Amino acid sequence: MANSIRYFIGNWKMFGVPSSYKIIEKFESHFRKDKKNNKKYKIIIAPPHTLLQDFSKKFKYKKISISAQNCHYKDNFGAHTGHVSPYMIKNLGVKYIILGHSENRASGETDTMIKQKVELALKNNFVVIFCIGENKLEKRKKRTLNVLKKQLYNVLNKKLNKKNLIVAYEPVWSIGTGKLPASAELVNSINHIKSNLTKIFRKRIPPVLYGGSVDSSSVHLFKNVRLIDGFLIGGASKSAKNFIDIIKNFYK
Ligand code: PGA
Repeated sequence: MANSIRYFIGNWKMFGVPSSYKIIEKFESHFRKDKKNNKKYKIIIAPPHTLLQDFSKKFKYKKISISAQNCHYKDNFGAHTGHVSPYMIKNLGVKYIILGHSENRASGETDTMIKQKVELALKNNFVVIFCIGENKLEKRKKRTLNVLKKQLYNVLNKKLNKKNLIVAYEPVWSIGTGKLPASAELVNSINHIKSNLTKIFRKRIPPVLYGGSVDSSSVHLFKNVRLIDGFLIGGASKSAKNFIDIIKNFYK
């Protein structure tokens, strides 16, 4: 069974300028009007670092939460040109952080670094959205389940504060490509993730989201996969209409 609340998380990646808060205002206004369903879901938007301070102030007393997209793996301050620490981001009033995204893994982030990031972010009281997922080659070689298990065990352990963890399953080959996993494949992967999370954390495991080419026309395909606790949405979260239509179509 899915947890009771579903997440619709928008990952803006390298997108947005100060006036882009207007897009998030539209999400907020949809949420307020959606009396029929809005107790069933939560919206979180992850703009780039440049907008975190401004947006977290603007949405402090609103229904939408703001997330960061990454952070450095050690220290509060240090000689790490161009990087920011969880401590620095937390001081802006940001509550959530995406870690382990495949685009960062592709540019050199290792499981060991992700583990350090997750631990440091949890220490700074973030809710961590931890991304895992197999790439095309791993899928072709039928290694998906092994890869997912390894990514989970290399980073998570039972001592972590599981209440502040969300896992996002994002098959790398599906991100930004319009390609979606077949429903049986997806059920298999999510079941595998949940059963490994149960082995790590026992009862009450973190929610597990799906991400990869979710948009307003594909979201209905996930309706029957009750195990999914929500979605991490890239491309389609940059437009108010697309993102709101995802939510509308999911509850239609
Ligand atoms: P996408 O990206 O929705 O554009 O496929 C998802 C993600 O990278 O989180």
